[in-house]
Amino acid sequence: MHFLITAGGTREYLDPVRFLSNASSGKMGYALARAALRMGHEVTLITAPTYLRPPKRARLIPVVSAADMFREVRNHLKTCDCLIMAAAVADYTPVKVSQTKIKKSRRIMAIRLTSTTDILAWAGRQKRHPFLVGFALEDKHLLARAQEKRINKNLDLIVANTTAALQADDSIVWIQGADGNWDLMRASKEAIARSIIRRVTQSVRSL
Ligand code: CTP
Repeated sequence: MHFLITAGGTREYLDPVRFLSNASSGKMGYALARAALRMGHEVTLITAPTYLRPPKRARLIPVVSAADMFREVRNHLKTCDCLIMAAAVADYTPVKVSQTKIKKSRRIMAIRLTSTTDILAWAGRQKRHPFLVGFALEDKHLLARAQEKRINKNLDLIVANTTAALQADDSIVWIQGADGNWDLMRASKEAIARSIIRRVTQSVRSL
């Protein structure tokens, strides 16, 4: 199978040196890429900036912003069997990007933001799309909101986790497929990644 996996937190630049981003480490996406490669699959890894060493055998596509990530997912969606959106994609981006460093002033400063494209929701709207896996990061009503995301974005699988997963090596996740049943898993991100890849391959083969 060919897996298209996104990882890391996108950066939305305000000027040449400053950006808005989030605390995603990219560990889950990279662990998924490694797990898929070890199981003999082909992997294209679209990655926002991280401090991690990329898996050697993955086809690596470095990106910076949510718009870059959207463009690359769009370019590769038709050639993959499964898209896993493990990236923390910025929901908003500055309306204006200054070409020169913004100078400080004593006045209150406001930054106008506009929403980015929801990449997964876009993929879910395509007539023919690969098996779609999304992540839901919630601090309240975790399972209800994650299920809502699976249904609204037309996903085949959703992995729900809490903000405790950010930066950590271990995680507690709940995984829900199209049957609506939840499976709880408390393990390292490596073990969770292996289990997700196994589940995807079984589901795709039984289609
Ligand atoms: N996602 C995406 N494009 C975006 C934002 C999110 O593809 N612009 C994907 C993420 O990669 C993740 C899933 O959507 O797999 C859910 O992301 P999450 O941040 O939990 O939720 P949002 O849909 O952005 O909604 P909210 O931030 O309001 O919870």
